[in-house]
Amino acid sequence: MSLLNTKDGYGALTKVFHWTIVALFAFQFAAAHIMLRIGPEQTALGIGQATYYNWHKSIGLFALAVAVFRLLARTCGRLPDWAPTLNARERRFVHRAEQVLYAAMFVMPVSGYLYVTAGGYGVNLFGVVELASPIGENRVLAVVAKWTHIGCGYLLLLVLAGHVGLILRHQLLLKDRLLDRMLPDSRVKTSAGPSASG
Ligand code: HEM
Ligand code: HEM
Repeated sequence: MSLLNTKDGYGALTKVFHWTIVALFAFQFAAAHIMLRIGPEQTALGIGQATYYNWHKSIGLFALAVAVFRLLARTCGRLPDWAPTLNARERRFVHRAEQVLYAAMFVMPVSGYLYVTAGGYGVNLFGVVELASPIGENRVLAVVAKWTHIGCGYLLLLVLAGHVGLILRHQLLLKDRLLDRMLPDSRVKTSAGPSASG
């Protein structure tokens, strides 16, 4: 498998970035769900609420750094040809969904960061470094950023359902092994598409 994307498939770099972001976002949704449902004195899986908040903020900022490198890698290389089994409507959906997913990789961490900074809560990165706040407390900004964070979280879930649903429909019902395109050492070479995806 080559490092970069080729005409015939995604390269190792795209695949590593893709699944790293999936793992980080899965953690973010799970941690957010827990931290918003337990009280300050309670624990879940032996971990207190403050630690969940702390890890949610820290992993979120780490995910932002990963997203920057992912976008750089994406803009440097080419995209593989479309999988030939995707029809024109599906290609339009995949294209739009991927734009929203890329936007979410930036809007989610930035809105979260603005919310806690403008709200005066701060970020203690991985419990090690207290990040300096470049902006002072700002109530209006904090409220706008908080609702952007929450609203985009739900929008992201909706688009993700479409993204994963389309891939699983192809993989499990149409059995064209679309998922293999993003798996290590993809054995499927779907090179007959007329244009690039994304
Ligand atoms: C990388 C991406 C991130 C994702 C996917 C994510 C996702 C979420 C989700 C789904 C919620 C729950 C929303 C709700 O149902 O009320 C949430 C809440 C929250 N997030 Fe994030 N988040 C991310 C990054 C961050 C960052 C970087 C920070 C801060 C530095 C942050 C701070 C918060 C806070 C403080 C809440 C609680 C909001 C409240 O009080 O309702 N998040 N996040
Ligand atoms: C946070 C969750 C996810 C995000 C942000 C995301 C984002 C993306 C993006 C942006 C692409 C386009 C390729 C690129 O430029 O990197 C892509 C492709 C792909 N994703 Fe995801 N994805 C997520 C979850 C998943 C999951 C859970 C699956 C497994 C069912 C999956 C399977 C795929 C596959 C197979 C492709 C290649 C489609 C093609 O043939 O072009 N993704 N994803």
